[in-house]
Amino acid sequence: MRKPLVAGNWKMNGTKASLNELKLLGDAYSAGLRAKVDVMVAPPATLIFVAAAGAVGTGIIIGGQDCHAKVSGAHTGDLSAAMLFDSGAKAVIVGHSERRTDHAETDADVKAKAEAALAQGLTAIVCVGETRAQREAGKALSVVAKQVKASVPDGASADEVVIAYEPVWAIGTGLTPTIADIAEVHAEIRKVIARKLGKEASAKMRILYGGSVKPENAKEILALEDVDGALVGGASLKAADFLKIIEAA
Ligand code: 13P
Repeated sequence: MRKPLVAGNWKMNGTKASLNELKLLGDAYSAGLRAKVDVMVAPPATLIFVAAAGAVGTGIIIGGQDCHAKVSGAHTGDLSAAMLFDSGAKAVIVGHSERRTDHAETDADVKAKAEAALAQGLTAIVCVGETRAQREAGKALSVVAKQVKASVPDGASADEVVIAYEPVWAIGTGLTPTIADIAEVHAEIRKVIARKLGKEASAKMRILYGGSVKPENAKEILALEDVDGALVGGASLKAADFLKIIEAA
């Protein structure tokens, strides 16, 4: 009932030469795969326009990695959701833990960015996740529940928002939570969404797992009932690896 989404977050990686990986991915993303799995790639902002043009007809969705909450104005270095949309992006990641840490983004900031994305017709991929200290203190569920409640726009529909659960300590470390821990957090997120947006939205909303997803572990993680895809960092940079994760979904 929920079509899985496998999304690649290139972070601050990639130059024009990397567009070749996107080309390889587009060639391999066959009609059969397209029918079963949605695929998104969020390249750095410098590549969005040309990546989106190149992705036309391939079925690959191009997304941004962040957006400002305002439509325009004196915010040097920032990009608005309107600009991303204008460049051909159809989605944007908001509230990634690297943004929350490096740019001190709060849940309220993330919510405002997600609202800006929705206002432009972009899908907002809202990221949440606990730190290692929070998990060790037994607070993973409560931290994630609070982030979901405060970061997801009120009244959002399942078509507009995707949640990505990315434990901070699992990102880029090669570490992943146990399968039982992933299942527990995803089930909790779905409960929180049901309380916030209603049962129907909760049943339809896609909840992705992110944090050291690789071809080797993708199948087991993606088989979980409440895991509706993956948000992939390092392993999304090479089309061959990313494709294996797409196939696993
Ligand atoms: P890695 O897959 O490199 O751990 O990164 C995950 C991530 O942060 C995706 O947004």
